Amino acid sequence: MKTSTKDRSIAFALLAIIPAAILGVALASTHSDAAGPQGSPSPQTAQYLPSISDMMIATIQPRHLRLWQAAQDRNWEFAAYELGNLHGAFKRLGEAHPVDHDMPFQDMIASVTEQPFKALDTAIKSKDEIEFSKAYADLTEGCNSCHQALSRGVVVIRVPSGTSVSDQDFTSPKP
Ligand code: HEC
Repeated sequence: MKTSTKDRSIAFALLAIIPAAILGVALASTHSDAAGPQGSPSPQTAQYLPSISDMMIATIQPRHLRLWQAAQDRNWEFAAYELGNLHGAFKRLGEAHPVDHDMPFQDMIASVTEQPFKALDTAIKSKDEIEFSKAYADLTEGCNSCHQALSRGVVVIRVPSGTSVSDQDFTSPKP
């Protein structure tokens, strides 16, 4: 009995909080509308720009892996979809971070991904597993050549294998 009273009071508290939160949002947006051209953005509205590594781990790496998985399952339709998304993610990354270590990041992306992307597209359209494997290995090599060129050789990307479905090698390099 004690628990249900507690549950009820939690539910009641939530009922009280939700309208307050909605009102808070409404007031906040009215406030920013009223701020006008002189209004400087408050710290709360400052934009968060994900770093290159944030984007790599959130938008590039999972799609690199999912593309491989789709081809393993011969789901060429999904492979085509994910290839398009991986391409788009690289494009947005280059636009968000045009320079890294004084290097033109967009050009570096294009130089190592353009060719493999074309080959992957052709392989997927013709449902050719052998060509897909070759192009996927080239793309993966592209990941690593950029990591090495930009002094991030610790990040080692690989073609997943049947025994370990991960596209990253976490073992430290042999001395
Ligand atoms: C044009 C250069 C470039 C290409 C191409 C590239 N990367 Fe990266 N990647 C970077 C840089 C630079 C970093 C490190 C960013 C940092 O630490 O600030 C990075 C970091 C990473 C990380 C580590 C993120 C973390 O927080 O642990 C992963 C994972 C990664 N890349 C995956 C990939 C994969 C997969 C590909 C290929 C499909 C790829 N990258 C292609 C430049 C590149």
